[in-house]
Amino acid sequence: MIIISAMSYSRVIGSGDGMPWNVPEEYQQFLNFVDGQSIIMGRRSFEIFGPDLTTTNNIVISRSASKLPNAVVFSDLKTAVEHVKKLGKTVFSAGGGSIYKQTIPLADTMYLSFIKGEFTGDTYFPEFDEAQWRVSKREDHPAFEFVVYNRK
Ligand SMILES: NC(=O)c1ccc[n+]([C@@H]2O[C@H](COP(=O)([O-])OP(=O)(O)OC[C@H]3O[C@@H](n4cnc5c(N)ncnc54)[C@H](OP(=O)(O)O)[C@@H]3O)[C@@H](O)[C@H]2O)c1
Repeated sequence: MIIISAMSYSRVIGSGDGMPWNVPEEYQQFLNFVDGQSIIMGRRSFEIFGPDLTTTNNIVISRSASKLPNAVVFSDLKTAVEHVKKLGKTVFSAGGGSIYKQTIPLADTMYLSFIKGEFTGDTYFPEFDEAQWRVSKREDHPAFEFVVYNRK
């Protein structure tokens, strides 16, 4: 499983029903990575980003919704992960904060974009133990830095 996220250097990932920046190049990169693949998202994030996705399989975790358009909904993460692994596509965990926290232990790779600038928000990327991860790629873009982490 690959964690994919954009965050500020202070780990902010969200503010209300969105992200506190507008960086189209980074958002397009996210859409390109997940195009045709499988994605796991929390119900809140799917409501925000779902309409933009061209993924083949949208797996949404929710206790409150049993059906959502263009998605398969699971009420628990474990069953969702068992299901998505059978679909034969690359599996991305695309947030939000609650889902990142629960899926980092299951992931072997993280695609993290660090947005340049200072931002405030109400949702954060969880702390993770950097000692367990090795940076395998670092790319500088005008508005963000893209870093790939692999589990050691
Ligand atoms: N910067 C980025 O890359 C990025 C990516 C994604 C999201 N975001 C931001 O993150 C924020 C949303 O994150 P969030 O943490 O508030 O919400 P979220 O993780 O997207 O969704 C939370 C919802 O997922 C469901 N859920 C989570 N864990 C569950 C479990 N173990 N079992 C069953 N259901 C579970 C619950 O849905 P129900 O309430 O329906 O039960 C919960 O309310 C937004 O601001 C968004 O813009 C940023």
